[in-house]
Amino acid sequence: MTSLLEARKISKSFPGVKALLEVSIHLAAGSIHALLGENGAGKSTLIKIITGIHRPDSGELVLDGKPFHFNGPREAIAAGIGVVHQERNLIPRFSIGENILLDRLGGSLLKPIDYESVHKEAKRWLDLLELDLDPRTQVSQLSVAKMQLVEIAKALSLQSRVLLLDEPTASLTSHETVALFSLLKKLRDDGVSILFVSHKLEEVQEICDTVTVLRDGSNACDSQSMANLGRQDLVRLMIGRNEQIPTVELRDHTLAKPVLDLINVATELGHADINLTLRKGEILGLYGLVGAGRTELAKSIIGRYRVTGGNVLVNGQRAEINSVADAIDVYGIGYVSEDRKQEGLILIHSVLDNASIPIWKRLAARFGVLTNRDVKAAIAPLVDQLEVRTPSLEQLVGLLSGGNQQKISLIKWLAANVNILIVDEPSVGIDIKTKAYIHELLRKLSSEGTSVLLITSDLPEMVALADRILAMDQYRVKGEVTNTRNYAEVSEKIMGLIHS
Ligand SMILES: Nc1ncnc2c1ncn2[C@@H]1O[C@H](COP(=O)(O)OP(=O)(O)OP(=O)(O)O)[C@@H](O)[C@H]1O
Ligand SMILES: [Mg+2]
Repeated sequence: MTSLLEARKISKSFPGVKALLEVSIHLAAGSIHALLGENGAGKSTLIKIITGIHRPDSGELVLDGKPFHFNGPREAIAAGIGVVHQERNLIPRFSIGENILLDRLGGSLLKPIDYESVHKEAKRWLDLLELDLDPRTQVSQLSVAKMQLVEIAKALSLQSRVLLLDEPTASLTSHETVALFSLLKKLRDDGVSILFVSHKLEEVQEICDTVTVLRDGSNACDSQSMANLGRQDLVRLMIGRNEQIPTVELRDHTLAKPVLDLINVATELGHADINLTLRKGEILGLYGLVGAGRTELAKSIIGRYRVTGGNVLVNGQRAEINSVADAIDVYGIGYVSEDRKQEGLILIHSVLDNASIPIWKRLAARFGVLTNRDVKAAIAPLVDQLEVRTPSLEQLVGLLSGGNQQKISLIKWLAANVNILIVDEPSVGIDIKTKAYIHELLRKLSSEGTSVLLITSDLPEMVALADRILAMDQYRVKGEVTNTRNYAEVSEKIMGLIHS
C-alpha cells in the first residue's frame, strides 16, 4: 500500500531526554493506524513533530510523496492534517460552538460573527458524535469526558484527510467510545487516514488495521498489519515481555470498623438519600455511567460542595467538612482528582515539589524541619516503582509525558499516608504495565489499613480492585454488589442495578 504520510528516521532530543531515535511510520489513506507504547515512549512527540509543533533534529517527513515540514499547527491544518492533542486545548470561557469553529470564526468590525450559523454548524458535529449538548454552553461547565468529545468534534469539523488522535478515548466510557468508533470507521471508509493512540488494547484491536509500536523512543515495529497480532504480541512489542495478570484474593471486611458513613446524605448538587459505609482497609467501588454523580459525590465529601442533608460520620463521629483543607488536615481524607491537569498538578513546578505537597505537613510534624532529603526519601521509591520517566526529580512536571504526569499526581497521594483515600479514575492515560503496579499499590495500601473509595469507569479495573461495588445512577445509589472477581457475573449485576 502506498503511504499518504510518512515519517522517515525521525530523531528528537530534549535537554536530558532522547525522545525519538530514527523513528519511522507509514500512514495509508483509508486506514486506522494504532500508535502504541509505554508512557514516555515518544508517541505525542512524534505527533507534535508531524504537526509542526516540534522540529525534528534529523529525519524526513513526506506527504503525497513530497518532503515537507510545517512551521506550526496552522500550516498542518491548511495541508489537511487535523489533530486532537493529548492535553486539552479548549478555551474555557468560550462556548462549545466558538471552540469548535475557533479557527474559522472570522468576524471583524464591519462584519460581526454570525453566532446563529456558528452554533448551527457546531451542532451538526456534536450530533454526529451523539453528543446531546447545547453549543451555547460554556466549555468550563463541562466534565473532562465532554471536553474530550468537544475537542474531537472540533478536529472532525476540519474535514481533514489525515486525522491524528492522541488518546482520544482516555476519559470516555465505553458508551461514548462506541459512538466515536462508528464515526471513525465511516471516515476510514471515506478514505481518511487516521492515527490512533490509546493504552486500551481492546479498543486498538477492535478498530485498527495497522500498528506502529514505540519502545524507549525507537520503533519496536513499523506499520505492521494488525491481522496476525494478538494482545500478548502487542504487549511484548511494548514492554518486551508478557503481561502478568495477578490473581486477587477475595476479602471480607464486614467486621472491620466503619471509617466513613454517609447517612441519608443530600448535597447542593442534587444527590439524595445517599447511604454508604466505608470500612477500615476496604476498597469500596462507586460505579456509574458518565453523569451518575460519582465525582460530584466525592467532591461533596471533601467539602468542595455543600452537604445539605443527612449526616457524614468519620470514625463514627459526626464530621463537619467545609473545605479540602479540613478534609486532609482534620479528617485525613485525600482525593485524587480525575481532572489532574486542572486540580492536581502545578505544571511549572518540579516533580519533587508536586509529589510532596500533601505530605510535607506530615513530615514536617515528624521531623520538625523539612529538608529536601526527607521529601526525597518519601517520594523517590514510588517514582522508581511506578517507573516515572524523568531525567531527575527536579524536572518540571509540565515537561513529562501525559502518563508520567498522571503518575506524579497519584504518587503524591499514595505517599501522603491519609486514612481515607478517594481515587477518581486512577489509571486514565497510564500504560498497562504501570496500571498493574498502581493496582498492586492500592491493594497494598488498603491491606495496611487505608480505606479506599474507588471511582472508575473502567469496569475490568473495578472488578480487579474493589471488595464491594455500589452502583450509582442519576445522583442516587441504586444498590450494592459483592465482588466475586468474576467479570461477566459482576458486570451483569451492576448494569442490572443501574438500569433498574
Ligand atoms: N518539551 C519537552 N521537554 C523535555 N522533555 C520532553 C518534552 N516533551 C516530551 N519530553 C520527554 O520526551 C519523552 C517522550 O514523551 P512523549 O510525550 O512523546 O511520550 P508519550 O509516548 O506520548 O507518553 P504518554 O503515554 O505518557 O503520553 C518523555 O521522556 C518526555 O518526558
Ligand atoms: Mg503522550
